[in-house]
Amino acid sequence: MDSNEENHKIRPARLSCNGPNKTEVNPKYILPPSERPRLAEVVSSSEGCIPTLDLTGLDGPQRQGLIAQIKQSCEVGVFQIINHGVSEELMENMMEVSNGFFKMPVEDHAELYIENPKATARLYTSSIVGKEKVCNWREILRLSCQYPLEQTINSWPPKPQAFRDIAAKYCTEVRALILRILTAISEALGLDPDYLSKCMGTHRQVMAVNYYPMCPNPELTFGIPPHSDPTVVTVLQQGDLSGLQVLKNGKWIAVEPIPNAFVVNVADQLEVISNGRFRSVEHRAVTNSTKARISIPTFYGPSTDAFIAPAKSLVIEECGHPALYRGFIFEEYLKKYKSQELKSKTVLDCFKINIE
Ligand code: OGA
Ligand code: NI
Repeated sequence: MDSNEENHKIRPARLSCNGPNKTEVNPKYILPPSERPRLAEVVSSSEGCIPTLDLTGLDGPQRQGLIAQIKQSCEVGVFQIINHGVSEELMENMMEVSNGFFKMPVEDHAELYIENPKATARLYTSSIVGKEKVCNWREILRLSCQYPLEQTINSWPPKPQAFRDIAAKYCTEVRALILRILTAISEALGLDPDYLSKCMGTHRQVMAVNYYPMCPNPELTFGIPPHSDPTVVTVLQQGDLSGLQVLKNGKWIAVEPIPNAFVVNVADQLEVISNGRFRSVEHRAVTNSTKARISIPTFYGPSTDAFIAPAKSLVIEECGHPALYRGFIFEEYLKKYKSQELKSKTVLDCFKINIE
Protein backbone atom coordinates (compact mmCIF):
# COMPACT_ATOMS: atom_id res chain seq x y z
CA MET A 1 0.00 0.00 0.00
CA ASP A 2 1.53 3.34 -0.91
CA SER A 3 1.57 6.21 1.51
CA ASN A 4 -1.21 8.02 -0.30
CA GLU A 5 -3.59 5.17 0.14
CA GLU A 6 -2.53 4.82 3.72
CA ASN A 7 -3.22 8.50 4.27
CA HIS A 8 -6.56 8.23 2.62
CA LYS A 9 -7.62 5.37 4.82
CA ILE A 10 -7.10 7.25 8.03
CA ARG A 11 -8.10 10.63 6.68
CA PRO A 12 -10.98 11.92 8.80
CA ALA A 13 -14.11 12.42 6.75
CA ARG A 14 -15.40 15.07 9.09
CA LEU A 15 -16.27 18.24 7.25
CA SER A 16 -14.56 21.28 8.57
CA CYS A 17 -15.27 24.97 8.75
CA ASN A 18 -12.69 27.70 8.56
CA GLY A 19 -12.05 30.91 10.44
CA PRO A 20 -11.20 31.65 14.07
CA ASN A 21 -14.67 30.63 15.28
CA LYS A 22 -15.02 27.86 12.73
CA THR A 23 -18.07 29.54 11.27
CA GLU A 24 -16.87 30.13 7.73
CA VAL A 25 -17.50 27.63 5.01
CA ASN A 26 -14.23 26.13 3.85
CA PRO A 27 -13.63 27.43 0.27
CA LYS A 28 -13.46 23.94 -1.20
CA TYR A 29 -17.20 23.56 -0.53
CA ILE A 30 -18.24 26.95 -1.93
CA LEU A 31 -20.16 26.78 -5.21
CA PRO A 32 -19.58 29.31 -7.99
CA PRO A 33 -22.40 31.90 -7.87
CA SER A 34 -24.23 30.51 -10.93
CA GLU A 35 -24.54 27.04 -9.38
CA ARG A 36 -25.80 27.99 -5.94
CA PRO A 37 -29.13 26.65 -4.66
CA ARG A 38 -30.97 30.03 -4.47
CA LEU A 39 -33.07 28.87 -1.56
CA ALA A 40 -35.42 31.85 -1.63
CA GLU A 41 -36.84 30.57 -4.94
CA VAL A 42 -37.65 27.07 -3.65
CA VAL A 43 -41.34 26.13 -3.37
CA SER A 44 -42.67 23.90 -0.56
CA SER A 45 -44.31 20.54 -1.34
CA SER A 46 -46.95 21.41 1.25
CA GLU A 47 -48.61 23.28 -1.60
CA GLY A 48 -49.67 19.89 -2.92
CA CYS A 49 -47.35 19.40 -5.86
CA ILE A 50 -45.88 16.07 -4.70
CA PRO A 51 -48.39 13.21 -4.31
CA THR A 52 -48.71 11.24 -1.07
CA LEU A 53 -50.08 7.71 -1.46
CA ASP A 54 -51.57 5.60 1.31
CA LEU A 55 -50.59 2.04 0.43
CA THR A 56 -53.00 0.43 2.91
CA GLY A 57 -55.16 -1.08 0.19
CA LEU A 58 -52.43 -2.08 -2.24
CA ASP A 59 -53.00 -5.81 -1.81
CA GLY A 60 -56.77 -5.59 -1.47
CA PRO A 61 -59.83 -4.52 -3.43
CA GLN A 62 -58.50 -0.96 -3.86
CA ARG A 63 -55.49 -2.15 -5.84
CA GLN A 64 -56.62 -0.85 -9.21
CA GLY A 65 -57.31 2.63 -7.83
CA LEU A 66 -53.90 2.73 -6.21
CA ILE A 67 -52.18 1.55 -9.34
CA ALA A 68 -53.79 4.44 -11.21
CA GLN A 69 -52.37 6.78 -8.54
CA ILE A 70 -48.95 5.16 -8.79
CA LYS A 71 -49.04 5.72 -12.54
CA GLN A 72 -49.79 9.42 -12.12
CA SER A 73 -47.14 9.74 -9.41
CA CYS A 74 -44.46 8.05 -11.53
CA GLU A 75 -45.27 10.50 -14.30
CA VAL A 76 -44.37 13.24 -11.81
CA GLY A 77 -41.28 11.17 -10.93
CA VAL A 78 -41.50 11.44 -7.14
CA PHE A 79 -44.05 10.67 -4.43
CA GLN A 80 -44.28 9.89 -0.75
CA ILE A 81 -45.83 6.72 0.65
CA ILE A 82 -47.44 6.07 4.02
CA ASN A 83 -48.81 2.82 5.52
CA HIS A 84 -46.24 1.04 3.41
CA GLY A 85 -45.70 -1.94 5.72
CA VAL A 86 -42.27 -1.09 7.14
CA SER A 87 -42.80 -0.58 10.86
CA GLU A 88 -42.42 2.81 12.46
CA GLU A 89 -40.22 1.25 15.11
CA LEU A 90 -37.79 -0.18 12.57
CA MET A 91 -37.58 3.15 10.75
CA GLU A 92 -36.85 4.93 14.02
CA ASN A 93 -34.28 2.35 15.07
CA MET A 94 -32.50 2.65 11.75
CA MET A 95 -32.37 6.43 12.11
CA GLU A 96 -31.12 6.07 15.68
CA VAL A 97 -28.24 3.69 14.89
CA SER A 98 -27.33 5.88 11.92
CA ASN A 99 -27.17 8.86 14.22
CA GLY A 100 -25.12 6.84 16.67
CA PHE A 101 -22.75 5.83 13.90
CA PHE A 102 -21.99 9.41 12.85
CA LYS A 103 -21.61 10.54 16.46
CA MET A 104 -18.78 8.08 17.06
CA PRO A 105 -15.24 9.44 17.23
CA VAL A 106 -13.21 9.49 14.01
CA GLU A 107 -11.07 6.55 15.22
CA ASP A 108 -14.12 4.32 15.10
CA HIS A 109 -14.66 5.25 11.46
CA ALA A 110 -11.10 4.75 10.26
CA GLU A 111 -11.55 1.10 9.23
CA LEU A 112 -14.34 2.07 6.88
CA TYR A 113 -12.38 4.57 4.78
CA ILE A 114 -11.81 2.22 1.90
CA GLU A 115 -10.84 3.43 -1.59
CA ASN A 116 -12.10 0.36 -3.44
CA PRO A 117 -15.56 1.21 -4.81
CA LYS A 118 -16.39 -2.51 -4.83
CA ALA A 119 -16.10 -2.77 -1.04
CA THR A 120 -19.40 -3.86 0.50
CA ALA A 121 -19.19 -1.13 3.15
CA ARG A 122 -17.50 2.23 2.70
CA LEU A 123 -17.43 5.60 4.35
CA TYR A 124 -16.40 8.62 2.33
CA THR A 125 -17.11 12.28 1.76
CA SER A 126 -18.42 14.10 -1.28
CA SER A 127 -19.54 11.85 -4.16
CA ILE A 128 -16.47 10.90 -6.10
CA VAL A 129 -13.56 11.64 -3.85
CA GLY A 130 -11.04 13.94 -5.44
CA LYS A 131 -12.85 14.28 -8.76
CA GLU A 132 -15.12 17.16 -7.99
CA LYS A 133 -14.23 20.78 -8.44
CA VAL A 134 -16.37 21.71 -5.46
CA CYS A 135 -16.86 19.21 -2.64
CA ASN A 136 -20.27 18.24 -1.38
CA TRP A 137 -21.29 18.92 2.19
CA ARG A 138 -21.94 15.32 3.12
CA GLU A 139 -20.47 12.11 4.40
CA ILE A 140 -21.77 8.82 3.07
CA LEU A 141 -21.87 5.38 4.55
CA ARG A 142 -22.57 3.04 1.65
CA LEU A 143 -23.61 -0.53 2.30
CA SER A 144 -24.14 -3.09 -0.36
CA CYS A 145 -26.93 -5.54 0.45
CA GLN A 146 -26.20 -8.97 -0.98
CA TYR A 147 -28.56 -11.74 0.02
CA PRO A 148 -28.35 -13.86 2.05
CA LEU A 149 -26.99 -11.08 4.23
CA GLU A 150 -25.08 -13.22 6.72
CA GLN A 151 -21.74 -12.74 4.95
CA THR A 152 -22.17 -9.18 3.73
CA ILE A 153 -23.00 -7.78 7.14
CA ASN A 154 -19.60 -8.80 8.47
CA SER A 155 -18.19 -5.88 6.50
CA TRP A 156 -20.78 -3.43 7.86
CA PRO A 157 -19.94 -1.18 10.83
CA PRO A 158 -19.57 -3.24 14.01
CA LYS A 159 -20.54 -0.22 16.10
CA PRO A 160 -22.98 1.00 17.40
CA GLN A 161 -23.67 -2.44 18.78
CA ALA A 162 -27.12 -2.86 17.26
CA PHE A 163 -26.16 -1.42 13.89
CA ARG A 164 -25.73 -4.64 11.88
CA ASP A 165 -28.89 -6.32 13.14
CA ILE A 166 -31.07 -3.29 12.66
CA ALA A 167 -29.63 -2.40 9.26
CA ALA A 168 -30.06 -6.02 8.10
CA LYS A 169 -33.69 -6.07 9.18
CA TYR A 170 -34.25 -2.64 7.63
CA CYS A 171 -32.80 -3.47 4.26
CA THR A 172 -34.70 -6.77 4.13
CA GLU A 173 -38.02 -5.05 4.86
CA VAL A 174 -37.34 -2.19 2.49
CA ARG A 175 -36.51 -4.70 -0.23
CA ALA A 176 -39.84 -6.47 0.33
CA LEU A 177 -41.58 -3.09 0.02
CA ILE A 178 -39.66 -2.24 -3.14
CA LEU A 179 -40.59 -5.57 -4.73
CA ARG A 180 -44.27 -4.78 -4.07
CA ILE A 181 -43.81 -1.33 -5.57
CA LEU A 182 -42.05 -2.74 -8.65
CA THR A 183 -44.96 -5.13 -9.23
CA ALA A 184 -47.40 -2.24 -8.95
CA ILE A 185 -45.31 -0.05 -11.28
CA SER A 186 -45.15 -2.88 -13.86
CA GLU A 187 -48.92 -3.08 -13.74
CA ALA A 188 -49.19 0.71 -13.97
CA LEU A 189 -47.28 0.44 -17.26
CA GLY A 190 -49.63 -2.28 -18.51
CA LEU A 191 -46.83 -4.86 -18.29
CA ASP A 192 -46.81 -8.29 -16.62
CA PRO A 193 -46.61 -7.84 -12.84
CA ASP A 194 -43.13 -9.42 -12.74
CA TYR A 195 -41.82 -7.53 -15.79
CA LEU A 196 -39.53 -5.10 -13.95
CA SER A 197 -38.25 -7.72 -11.55
CA LYS A 198 -37.44 -10.05 -14.44
CA CYS A 199 -35.55 -7.54 -16.51
CA MET A 200 -33.34 -6.56 -13.56
CA GLY A 201 -31.27 -9.75 -13.61
CA THR A 202 -30.35 -10.81 -10.10
CA HIS A 203 -31.12 -7.31 -8.75
CA ARG A 204 -28.77 -5.00 -6.90
CA GLN A 205 -29.57 -3.15 -3.68
CA VAL A 206 -27.42 -0.52 -2.08
CA MET A 207 -28.32 1.28 1.08
CA ALA A 208 -26.69 4.54 2.05
CA VAL A 209 -26.72 6.73 5.09
CA ASN A 210 -26.13 10.34 4.08
CA TYR A 211 -24.91 12.62 6.83
CA TYR A 212 -25.13 16.36 6.22
CA PRO A 213 -23.46 18.23 9.07
CA MET A 214 -24.75 21.63 10.07
CA CYS A 215 -23.51 24.15 7.55
CA PRO A 216 -22.89 27.81 8.49
CA ASN A 217 -24.17 29.02 5.12
CA PRO A 218 -26.50 26.71 3.16
CA GLU A 219 -26.71 29.28 0.32
CA LEU A 220 -23.11 28.47 -0.64
CA THR A 221 -23.12 24.67 -0.58
CA PHE A 222 -24.84 21.51 -1.72
CA GLY A 223 -25.22 18.30 0.24
CA ILE A 224 -25.65 16.71 -3.18
CA PRO A 225 -25.86 18.79 -6.38
CA PRO A 226 -28.65 18.19 -8.92
CA HIS A 227 -28.61 14.63 -10.27
CA SER A 228 -30.82 11.70 -11.12
CA ASP A 229 -30.27 8.27 -9.58
CA PRO A 230 -28.71 5.54 -11.74
CA THR A 231 -30.97 2.67 -10.61
CA VAL A 232 -34.66 1.77 -11.14
CA VAL A 233 -36.19 3.30 -8.03
CA THR A 234 -34.93 4.92 -4.84
CA VAL A 235 -36.82 4.68 -1.56
CA LEU A 236 -35.63 7.29 0.92
CA GLN A 237 -36.22 7.78 4.61
CA GLN A 238 -35.56 11.44 5.21
CA GLY A 239 -36.24 11.72 8.92
CA ASP A 240 -37.89 14.89 10.15
CA LEU A 241 -35.68 17.52 8.52
CA SER A 242 -36.33 18.92 5.08
CA GLY A 243 -33.40 18.90 2.64
CA LEU A 244 -34.44 16.91 -0.42
CA GLN A 245 -35.59 19.07 -3.34
CA VAL A 246 -36.90 17.94 -6.73
CA LEU A 247 -37.10 19.79 -10.01
CA LYS A 248 -40.60 20.12 -11.39
CA ASN A 249 -41.51 22.38 -14.31
CA GLY A 250 -38.28 24.30 -13.87
CA LYS A 251 -38.86 24.98 -10.17
CA TRP A 252 -37.15 23.38 -7.18
CA ILE A 253 -39.64 21.91 -4.73
CA ALA A 254 -38.69 21.06 -1.14
CA VAL A 255 -40.06 17.62 -0.28
CA GLU A 256 -41.37 18.28 3.23
CA PRO A 257 -40.99 15.34 5.61
CA ILE A 258 -44.15 13.42 6.52
CA PRO A 259 -43.85 11.26 9.66
CA ASN A 260 -43.01 7.61 8.87
CA ALA A 261 -43.21 8.18 5.13
CA PHE A 262 -40.76 7.09 2.48
CA VAL A 263 -40.00 9.23 -0.55
CA VAL A 264 -40.00 7.15 -3.73
CA ASN A 265 -38.32 8.47 -6.83
CA VAL A 266 -38.18 7.15 -10.35
CA ALA A 267 -34.57 6.58 -11.39
CA ASP A 268 -32.85 6.40 -14.79
CA GLN A 269 -33.46 2.72 -15.66
CA LEU A 270 -37.20 3.07 -15.09
CA GLU A 271 -37.26 6.03 -17.44
CA VAL A 272 -35.62 3.82 -20.09
CA ILE A 273 -37.80 0.73 -19.53
CA SER A 274 -40.98 2.84 -19.49
CA ASN A 275 -39.76 4.46 -22.72
CA GLY A 276 -39.97 7.90 -21.15
CA ARG A 277 -43.51 7.58 -19.78
CA PHE A 278 -42.08 7.75 -16.26
CA ARG A 279 -39.49 10.40 -15.54
CA SER A 280 -36.28 9.97 -13.64
CA VAL A 281 -36.62 13.03 -11.50
CA GLU A 282 -33.80 15.46 -11.03
CA HIS A 283 -33.18 16.15 -7.38
CA ARG A 284 -30.64 17.59 -4.96
CA ALA A 285 -30.02 17.82 -1.22
CA VAL A 286 -29.43 21.16 0.45
CA THR A 287 -27.79 21.76 3.82
CA ASN A 288 -29.15 23.61 6.80
CA SER A 289 -27.67 25.84 9.42
CA THR A 290 -29.49 24.64 12.51
CA LYS A 291 -29.16 20.87 12.66
CA ALA A 292 -27.25 17.99 11.10
CA ARG A 293 -29.48 15.93 8.80
CA ILE A 294 -29.43 12.23 8.09
CA SER A 295 -31.21 10.59 5.19
CA ILE A 296 -31.28 6.89 4.37
CA PRO A 297 -31.79 6.08 0.70
CA THR A 298 -32.13 2.55 -0.66
CA PHE A 299 -31.10 2.36 -4.30
CA TYR A 300 -32.65 -0.58 -6.11
CA GLY A 301 -31.67 -1.57 -9.60
CA PRO A 302 -30.45 -4.19 -12.04
CA SER A 303 -27.41 -6.42 -11.67
CA THR A 304 -24.56 -5.40 -13.95
CA ASP A 305 -25.34 -8.15 -16.50
CA ALA A 306 -28.98 -7.13 -17.03
CA PHE A 307 -30.09 -5.90 -20.45
CA ILE A 308 -32.03 -2.67 -20.14
CA ALA A 309 -34.22 -1.39 -22.98
CA PRO A 310 -37.64 0.19 -23.48
CA ALA A 311 -40.34 -2.48 -22.98
CA LYS A 312 -41.45 -3.63 -26.44
CA SER A 313 -45.14 -3.02 -25.77
CA LEU A 314 -44.35 0.63 -24.89
CA VAL A 315 -42.67 1.30 -28.23
CA ILE A 316 -45.53 2.06 -30.63
CA GLU A 317 -44.14 4.13 -33.52
CA GLU A 318 -47.47 4.70 -35.20
CA CYS A 319 -49.02 6.11 -32.02
CA GLY A 320 -46.27 8.60 -31.40
CA HIS A 321 -44.15 6.39 -29.12
CA PRO A 322 -40.93 5.59 -30.98
CA ALA A 323 -38.11 4.07 -28.90
CA LEU A 324 -36.44 6.93 -27.00
CA TYR A 325 -33.44 4.92 -25.79
CA ARG A 326 -31.26 2.21 -27.23
CA GLY A 327 -30.84 -0.99 -25.26
CA PHE A 328 -27.65 -1.61 -23.25
CA ILE A 329 -26.12 -3.90 -20.70
CA PHE A 330 -26.39 -2.14 -17.36
CA GLU A 331 -22.64 -2.37 -16.84
CA GLU A 332 -22.12 -0.06 -19.83
CA TYR A 333 -24.35 2.52 -18.23
CA LEU A 334 -22.59 2.20 -14.87
CA LYS A 335 -19.19 2.71 -16.47
CA LYS A 336 -20.39 5.96 -18.02
CA TYR A 337 -21.98 7.01 -14.75
CA LYS A 338 -18.81 6.43 -12.76
CA SER A 339 -16.57 8.09 -15.31
CA GLN A 340 -18.01 11.50 -14.75
CA GLU A 341 -19.06 13.75 -11.94
CA LEU A 342 -22.58 13.42 -10.66
CA LYS A 343 -24.29 15.64 -13.21
CA SER A 344 -27.89 16.16 -14.11
CA LYS A 345 -29.11 13.36 -16.31
CA THR A 346 -26.13 13.57 -18.64
CA VAL A 347 -25.58 9.82 -18.48
CA LEU A 348 -29.09 9.00 -19.65
CA ASP A 349 -28.58 11.37 -22.57
CA CYS A 350 -25.77 9.11 -23.86
CA PHE A 351 -28.34 6.37 -24.57
CA LYS A 352 -30.98 8.58 -26.18
CA ILE A 353 -32.01 7.89 -29.75
CA ASN A 354 -32.12 11.09 -31.72
CA ILE A 355 -35.56 11.64 -33.13
CA GLU A 356 -36.00 14.28 -35.79
C1 OGA B 1 -29.06 10.49 -2.96
C2 OGA B 1 -30.05 11.57 -2.70
C3 OGA B 1 -31.28 12.94 -1.11
C4 OGA B 1 -31.31 13.24 0.35
O1 OGA B 1 -28.45 10.02 -1.98
O2 OGA B 1 -28.90 10.11 -4.14
O3 OGA B 1 -30.57 12.10 -3.64
O4 OGA B 1 -32.28 13.86 0.78
N1 OGA B 1 -30.32 11.93 -1.43
O5 OGA B 1 -30.38 12.90 1.06
NI1 NI C 1 -30.32 10.89 -5.43
